[in-house]
Amino acid sequence: MIIRHALPSDHPDIIMAMTTWWGDRDLTTSVPRLFLNHFGNTSFVVHDQDRLIGFLIGFFSQSMINQGYIHFAGVHPDYRRSGIGSTLYERFFQKCLEENRTIVQSCTSPVNTTSITFHRSMGFTLLEGQAVEDGIPIWLDYNREGDHKVLFKKELLPVRIQDTFEIRQATVSDTRLLTGIIKKSYQDVAMRFKLTRENCPKHPSNCTDEWIEKDFIRGVSYYLLTRNDTPLGCGGIEQADKDICYLERLCVLPQYRGKGYGGMLVEHIFNRARALNARMLSIGIIARQEELKTWYEKFGFVEEQTKSFTHLPFDVTIMKALVNT
Ligand SMILES: CC(C)(COP(=O)(O)OP(=O)(O)OC[C@H]1O[C@@H](n2cnc3c(N)ncnc32)[C@H](O)[C@@H]1OP(=O)(O)O)[C@@H](O)C(=O)NCCC(=O)NCCS
Repeated sequence: MIIRHALPSDHPDIIMAMTTWWGDRDLTTSVPRLFLNHFGNTSFVVHDQDRLIGFLIGFFSQSMINQGYIHFAGVHPDYRRSGIGSTLYERFFQKCLEENRTIVQSCTSPVNTTSITFHRSMGFTLLEGQAVEDGIPIWLDYNREGDHKVLFKKELLPVRIQDTFEIRQATVSDTRLLTGIIKKSYQDVAMRFKLTRENCPKHPSNCTDEWIEKDFIRGVSYYLLTRNDTPLGCGGIEQADKDICYLERLCVLPQYRGKGYGGMLVEHIFNRARALNARMLSIGIIARQEELKTWYEKFGFVEEQTKSFTHLPFDVTIMKALVNT
Protein backbone atom coordinates (compact mmCIF):
# COMPACT_ATOMS: atom_id res chain seq x y z
CA MET A 1 0.00 0.00 0.00
CA ILE A 2 1.47 3.35 -1.06
CA ILE A 3 0.26 6.78 -0.02
CA ARG A 4 1.42 9.84 -1.95
CA HIS A 5 0.36 13.34 -2.95
CA ALA A 6 -2.34 13.50 -5.60
CA LEU A 7 -1.47 14.42 -9.20
CA PRO A 8 -3.67 15.78 -12.01
CA SER A 9 -3.16 12.41 -13.76
CA ASP A 10 -5.01 10.72 -10.85
CA HIS A 11 -8.23 12.49 -11.85
CA PRO A 12 -9.70 9.78 -14.17
CA ASP A 13 -9.25 7.06 -11.50
CA ILE A 14 -10.82 9.28 -8.84
CA ILE A 15 -13.82 10.03 -11.06
CA MET A 16 -14.20 6.33 -11.81
CA ALA A 17 -14.08 5.53 -8.11
CA MET A 18 -16.71 8.12 -7.31
CA THR A 19 -19.25 6.41 -9.51
CA THR A 20 -19.17 3.30 -7.31
CA TRP A 21 -17.74 4.07 -3.85
CA TRP A 22 -20.65 6.29 -2.76
CA GLY A 23 -23.35 3.73 -3.54
CA ASP A 24 -26.06 5.10 -5.79
CA ARG A 25 -25.05 8.74 -5.39
CA ASP A 26 -23.34 10.31 -8.40
CA LEU A 27 -21.00 12.89 -6.94
CA THR A 28 -18.53 13.04 -9.84
CA THR A 29 -19.10 16.75 -10.50
CA SER A 30 -17.87 17.54 -6.97
CA VAL A 31 -14.21 16.90 -7.80
CA PRO A 32 -13.23 18.80 -10.96
CA ARG A 33 -9.66 18.35 -12.14
CA LEU A 34 -8.70 21.84 -10.95
CA PHE A 35 -8.61 20.52 -7.37
CA LEU A 36 -5.78 18.22 -8.43
CA ASN A 37 -4.06 20.94 -10.42
CA HIS A 38 -4.07 23.37 -7.51
CA PHE A 39 -4.35 21.32 -4.32
CA GLY A 40 -2.12 18.34 -5.14
CA ASN A 41 0.20 18.95 -2.21
CA THR A 42 -2.68 18.92 0.30
CA SER A 43 -4.43 15.96 -1.34
CA PHE A 44 -3.45 12.31 -1.14
CA VAL A 45 -4.06 9.04 -2.96
CA VAL A 46 -3.53 5.47 -1.76
CA HIS A 47 -2.74 2.58 -4.09
CA ASP A 48 -2.63 -1.17 -3.56
CA GLN A 49 -0.36 -2.39 -6.36
CA ASP A 50 -1.63 -0.13 -9.18
CA ARG A 51 -5.18 0.06 -7.95
CA LEU A 52 -6.56 3.28 -6.42
CA ILE A 53 -8.05 2.30 -3.05
CA GLY A 54 -8.42 5.67 -1.33
CA PHE A 55 -8.09 9.42 -1.79
CA LEU A 56 -8.49 12.68 0.07
CA ILE A 57 -8.98 16.06 -1.56
CA GLY A 58 -8.04 18.81 0.87
CA PHE A 59 -6.88 22.42 0.72
CA PHE A 60 -5.79 25.30 2.92
CA SER A 61 -8.44 27.99 3.29
CA GLN A 62 -7.53 31.36 1.78
CA SER A 63 -10.01 33.32 3.92
CA MET A 64 -9.39 31.51 7.22
CA ILE A 65 -5.65 31.35 7.40
CA ASN A 66 -5.55 28.95 10.36
CA GLN A 67 -7.79 26.38 8.66
CA GLY A 68 -7.52 23.35 6.42
CA TYR A 69 -10.56 21.93 4.67
CA ILE A 70 -11.25 18.34 3.62
CA HIS A 71 -13.47 18.55 0.58
CA PHE A 72 -13.79 14.87 -0.26
CA ALA A 73 -12.43 11.53 0.91
CA GLY A 74 -13.24 7.98 -0.01
CA VAL A 75 -12.01 4.44 0.46
CA HIS A 76 -12.67 1.49 -1.84
CA PRO A 77 -15.52 -0.60 -0.34
CA ASP A 78 -13.30 -3.73 -0.18
CA TYR A 79 -10.72 -1.88 1.91
CA ARG A 80 -12.94 -0.16 4.49
CA ARG A 81 -12.49 -0.49 8.24
CA SER A 82 -8.80 -1.17 7.79
CA GLY A 83 -7.55 2.26 8.80
CA ILE A 84 -7.10 3.79 5.34
CA GLY A 85 -9.58 6.64 5.86
CA SER A 86 -8.02 7.58 9.19
CA THR A 87 -4.50 7.36 7.73
CA LEU A 88 -5.49 9.80 4.97
CA TYR A 89 -7.00 12.18 7.52
CA GLU A 90 -3.90 11.95 9.75
CA ARG A 91 -1.69 12.80 6.78
CA PHE A 92 -3.80 15.89 6.12
CA PHE A 93 -3.68 16.87 9.83
CA GLN A 94 0.10 16.54 9.75
CA LYS A 95 0.29 18.73 6.64
CA CYS A 96 -1.92 21.34 8.36
CA LEU A 97 0.26 21.40 11.47
CA GLU A 98 3.40 21.85 9.40
CA GLU A 99 1.82 25.06 8.05
CA ASN A 100 0.35 26.20 11.38
CA ARG A 101 -3.21 25.35 10.33
CA THR A 102 -4.67 24.19 13.62
CA ILE A 103 -8.33 23.87 12.62
CA VAL A 104 -9.68 21.35 10.15
CA GLN A 105 -13.20 21.53 8.78
CA SER A 106 -15.14 19.12 6.65
CA CYS A 107 -18.75 18.37 5.76
CA THR A 108 -20.93 15.50 4.66
CA SER A 109 -24.45 14.82 3.58
CA PRO A 110 -26.93 14.15 6.44
CA VAL A 111 -27.77 10.78 4.83
CA ASN A 112 -24.14 9.62 5.14
CA THR A 113 -24.27 8.12 8.61
CA THR A 114 -20.99 6.20 8.07
CA SER A 115 -19.21 9.45 7.36
CA ILE A 116 -20.71 11.06 10.47
CA THR A 117 -19.57 8.10 12.60
CA PHE A 118 -16.15 8.19 10.97
CA HIS A 119 -15.68 11.92 11.58
CA ARG A 120 -16.76 11.56 15.20
CA SER A 121 -14.23 8.75 15.65
CA MET A 122 -11.54 11.05 14.24
CA GLY A 123 -12.30 13.61 16.96
CA PHE A 124 -14.43 16.03 14.94
CA THR A 125 -17.31 17.87 16.60
CA LEU A 126 -20.53 18.60 14.74
CA LEU A 127 -21.22 22.31 14.31
CA GLU A 128 -24.61 23.57 15.39
CA GLY A 129 -26.82 24.30 12.39
CA GLN A 130 -30.27 25.69 11.70
CA ALA A 131 -32.06 22.35 12.08
CA VAL A 132 -31.71 19.02 13.87
CA GLU A 133 -32.64 15.67 12.36
CA ASP A 134 -32.39 12.47 14.43
CA GLY A 135 -30.25 14.37 16.89
CA ILE A 136 -27.81 15.51 14.13
CA PRO A 137 -27.37 19.27 13.62
CA ILE A 138 -27.91 20.27 9.98
CA TRP A 139 -26.76 23.32 8.01
CA LEU A 140 -29.60 24.13 5.62
CA ASP A 141 -28.88 25.15 2.01
CA TYR A 142 -25.13 25.00 2.70
CA ASN A 143 -23.79 25.09 -0.88
CA ARG A 144 -27.02 25.84 -2.69
CA GLU A 145 -30.73 25.61 -2.08
CA GLY A 146 -31.71 22.17 -0.89
CA ASP A 147 -28.08 21.07 -0.35
CA HIS A 148 -28.09 20.50 3.40
CA LYS A 149 -24.92 19.42 5.18
CA VAL A 150 -23.49 18.24 8.46
CA LEU A 151 -20.45 20.39 9.29
CA PHE A 152 -17.43 19.06 11.18
CA LYS A 153 -14.66 20.85 12.97
CA LYS A 154 -11.52 19.58 14.69
CA GLU A 155 -8.88 21.52 16.54
CA LEU A 156 -5.43 20.05 16.13
CA LEU A 157 -3.02 20.03 19.03
CA PRO A 158 0.30 21.36 17.84
CA VAL A 159 2.91 18.66 18.37
CA ARG A 160 6.48 19.57 19.16
CA ILE A 161 8.55 18.39 16.28
CA GLN A 162 11.37 16.26 17.64
CA ASP A 163 14.84 17.71 17.30
CA THR A 164 17.17 15.78 15.04
CA PHE A 165 20.78 15.58 16.21
CA GLU A 166 23.58 14.45 14.01
CA ILE A 167 27.32 14.09 14.47
CA ARG A 168 29.00 13.88 11.12
CA GLN A 169 32.59 13.76 10.01
CA ALA A 170 33.64 17.13 8.65
CA THR A 171 35.38 17.43 5.30
CA VAL A 172 37.74 20.05 3.91
CA SER A 173 34.68 21.89 2.56
CA ASP A 174 33.64 22.48 6.20
CA THR A 175 36.89 24.33 6.95
CA ARG A 176 35.32 27.79 7.22
CA LEU A 177 32.49 26.46 9.38
CA LEU A 178 34.93 24.74 11.75
CA THR A 179 37.11 27.84 11.97
CA GLY A 180 34.08 29.97 12.84
CA ILE A 181 32.82 27.59 15.53
CA ILE A 182 36.25 27.22 17.13
CA LYS A 183 37.03 30.95 17.09
CA LYS A 184 33.68 31.92 18.61
CA SER A 185 33.64 29.13 21.17
CA TYR A 186 37.08 29.91 22.58
CA GLN A 187 36.49 33.66 22.79
CA ASP A 188 35.27 33.60 26.41
CA VAL A 189 38.27 31.49 27.50
CA ALA A 190 40.61 34.00 25.85
CA MET A 191 38.86 36.87 27.68
CA ARG A 192 38.98 35.07 31.03
CA PHE A 193 42.72 34.28 30.82
CA LYS A 194 43.57 37.51 28.99
CA LEU A 195 44.91 35.67 25.97
CA THR A 196 45.48 37.83 22.93
CA ARG A 197 46.81 37.32 19.44
CA GLU A 198 50.08 38.84 20.70
CA ASN A 199 50.63 36.88 23.92
CA CYS A 200 49.12 33.59 22.70
CA PRO A 201 48.85 33.40 18.90
CA LYS A 202 48.30 29.63 19.02
CA HIS A 203 45.17 29.82 21.20
CA PRO A 204 42.08 28.46 19.35
CA SER A 205 40.37 31.86 19.71
CA ASN A 206 42.78 32.91 16.93
CA CYS A 207 41.99 29.90 14.75
CA THR A 208 42.27 30.41 11.00
CA ASP A 209 41.20 28.38 7.98
CA GLU A 210 44.85 27.60 7.42
CA TRP A 211 45.13 25.88 10.80
CA ILE A 212 42.19 23.62 9.99
CA GLU A 213 43.49 22.86 6.49
CA LYS A 214 46.84 21.87 8.03
CA ASP A 215 45.02 19.73 10.62
CA PHE A 216 43.24 17.85 7.84
CA ILE A 217 46.56 17.29 6.06
CA ARG A 218 48.10 16.04 9.33
CA GLY A 219 45.29 13.49 9.64
CA VAL A 220 43.04 15.10 12.25
CA SER A 221 39.42 13.96 11.88
CA TYR A 222 36.90 16.64 12.79
CA TYR A 223 33.30 15.94 13.80
CA LEU A 224 30.44 18.43 13.66
CA LEU A 225 27.41 18.23 15.94
CA THR A 226 24.21 19.65 14.43
CA ARG A 227 20.65 20.04 15.67
CA ASN A 228 18.11 20.24 12.84
CA ASP A 229 21.07 21.01 10.56
CA THR A 230 22.23 23.93 12.73
CA PRO A 231 25.86 23.52 13.85
CA LEU A 232 26.25 23.47 17.64
CA GLY A 233 29.87 22.47 18.17
CA CYS A 234 32.75 20.35 16.99
CA GLY A 235 35.72 18.28 18.08
CA GLY A 236 38.74 16.64 16.52
CA ILE A 237 40.67 13.44 17.04
CA GLU A 238 44.25 12.74 16.00
CA GLN A 239 46.00 9.41 16.33
CA ALA A 240 49.43 10.19 17.81
CA ASP A 241 50.59 6.56 17.75
CA LYS A 242 49.07 3.08 17.84
CA ASP A 243 47.91 3.47 21.42
CA ILE A 244 47.17 7.16 21.92
CA CYS A 245 44.68 9.53 20.34
CA TYR A 246 44.44 13.25 21.10
CA LEU A 247 41.10 14.93 21.61
CA GLU A 248 41.48 18.38 20.09
CA ARG A 249 39.62 21.69 19.90
CA LEU A 250 36.47 20.31 21.46
CA CYS A 251 33.95 23.14 21.72
CA VAL A 252 30.26 24.06 21.83
CA LEU A 253 29.09 27.52 20.77
CA PRO A 254 28.29 29.69 23.84
CA GLN A 255 24.53 29.91 23.15
CA TYR A 256 24.16 26.11 23.15
CA ARG A 257 26.07 25.28 26.32
CA GLY A 258 24.76 23.49 29.40
CA LYS A 259 22.60 21.04 27.41
CA GLY A 260 24.87 18.00 27.21
CA TYR A 261 26.13 18.69 23.67
CA GLY A 262 29.79 18.74 24.70
CA GLY A 263 29.25 15.33 26.29
CA MET A 264 27.74 14.01 23.06
CA LEU A 265 30.86 15.06 21.21
CA VAL A 266 33.20 13.55 23.82
CA GLU A 267 31.31 10.22 23.69
CA HIS A 268 31.55 10.28 19.90
CA ILE A 269 35.30 10.91 20.02
CA PHE A 270 35.66 7.98 22.46
CA ASN A 271 33.84 5.79 19.92
CA ARG A 272 36.16 6.95 17.17
CA ALA A 273 39.21 6.19 19.36
CA ARG A 274 37.76 2.72 19.96
CA ALA A 275 37.32 2.24 16.22
CA LEU A 276 40.99 3.16 15.80
CA ASN A 277 41.95 0.51 18.40
CA ALA A 278 43.57 3.17 20.59
CA ARG A 279 44.14 2.44 24.27
CA MET A 280 44.16 6.00 25.60
CA LEU A 281 42.55 9.31 24.79
CA SER A 282 44.54 12.36 25.83
CA ILE A 283 43.72 16.06 26.19
CA GLY A 284 45.56 19.19 27.22
CA ILE A 285 43.72 21.97 29.05
CA ILE A 286 44.63 25.26 30.72
CA ALA A 287 45.78 24.15 34.18
CA ARG A 288 43.78 26.86 35.94
CA GLN A 289 40.51 25.74 34.30
CA GLU A 290 39.54 23.67 37.34
CA GLU A 291 35.85 23.30 36.38
CA LEU A 292 36.88 21.90 32.99
CA LYS A 293 39.11 19.37 34.74
CA THR A 294 36.12 18.25 36.83
CA TRP A 295 33.96 18.06 33.70
CA TYR A 296 36.46 15.80 31.90
CA GLU A 297 36.76 13.59 34.99
CA LYS A 298 33.09 12.65 34.47
CA PHE A 299 34.14 10.91 31.25
CA GLY A 300 36.97 8.98 32.93
CA PHE A 301 39.84 11.40 32.29
CA VAL A 302 42.51 11.51 34.98
CA GLU A 303 45.03 14.29 35.51
CA GLU A 304 48.48 13.06 34.52
CA GLN A 305 50.86 15.98 34.65
CA THR A 306 51.06 19.76 34.38
CA LYS A 307 53.67 21.27 32.08
CA SER A 308 54.91 24.70 31.08
CA PHE A 309 55.60 25.58 27.45
CA THR A 310 57.71 28.53 26.40
CA HIS A 311 55.22 29.57 23.71
CA LEU A 312 52.19 29.51 26.05
CA PRO A 313 51.38 32.05 28.82
CA PHE A 314 49.69 29.34 30.93
CA ASP A 315 50.47 25.88 32.26
CA VAL A 316 48.90 22.92 30.52
CA THR A 317 47.39 19.98 32.37
CA ILE A 318 47.48 16.72 30.45
CA MET A 319 44.59 14.37 31.18
CA LYS A 320 44.21 10.82 29.95
CA ALA A 321 41.34 8.35 29.79
CA LEU A 322 41.34 4.65 29.06
CA VAL A 323 39.47 3.76 25.91
CA ASN A 324 37.56 0.61 26.84
CA THR A 325 37.51 -1.78 23.94
C1 LIG B 1 -15.91 7.24 5.54
C2 LIG B 1 -14.77 6.41 4.98
C3 LIG B 1 -13.83 7.34 4.19
C4 LIG B 1 -14.01 5.77 6.14
O1 LIG B 1 -12.86 5.10 5.62
P1 LIG B 1 -12.27 3.78 6.35
O2 LIG B 1 -10.94 3.50 5.72
O3 LIG B 1 -13.25 2.70 6.32
O4 LIG B 1 -12.10 4.31 7.84
P2 LIG B 1 -11.14 3.70 9.00
O5 LIG B 1 -10.93 2.25 8.77
O6 LIG B 1 -9.94 4.55 9.09
O7 LIG B 1 -12.10 3.93 10.23
C5 LIG B 1 -11.73 4.72 11.36
C6 LIG B 1 -12.85 4.62 12.38
O8 LIG B 1 -14.03 5.27 11.90
C7 LIG B 1 -15.21 4.56 12.39
N1 LIG B 1 -15.91 3.96 11.25
C8 LIG B 1 -15.53 3.98 9.96
N2 LIG B 1 -16.45 3.35 9.20
C9 LIG B 1 -17.40 2.92 10.03
C10 LIG B 1 -18.63 2.20 9.83
N3 LIG B 1 -19.02 1.78 8.62
N4 LIG B 1 -19.37 1.94 10.91
C11 LIG B 1 -19.02 2.34 12.13
N5 LIG B 1 -17.85 3.01 12.39
C12 LIG B 1 -17.09 3.30 11.33
C13 LIG B 1 -14.67 3.48 13.30
O9 LIG B 1 -14.58 4.03 14.60
C14 LIG B 1 -13.29 3.23 12.72
O10 LIG B 1 -12.37 2.68 13.64
P3 LIG B 1 -12.41 1.06 13.90
O11 LIG B 1 -12.46 0.40 12.56
O12 LIG B 1 -11.10 0.82 14.62
O13 LIG B 1 -13.63 0.82 14.72
C15 LIG B 1 -15.28 5.24 4.10
O14 LIG B 1 -16.34 4.57 4.77
C16 LIG B 1 -15.82 5.67 2.74
O15 LIG B 1 -15.05 5.79 1.78
N6 LIG B 1 -17.14 5.91 2.63
C17 LIG B 1 -17.71 6.34 1.36
C18 LIG B 1 -17.24 7.75 1.01
C19 LIG B 1 -17.64 8.77 2.09
O16 LIG B 1 -18.71 8.71 2.66
N7 LIG B 1 -16.75 9.72 2.41
C20 LIG B 1 -17.01 10.65 3.50
C21 LIG B 1 -16.42 11.96 3.32
S1 LIG B 1 -16.96 12.80 1.86
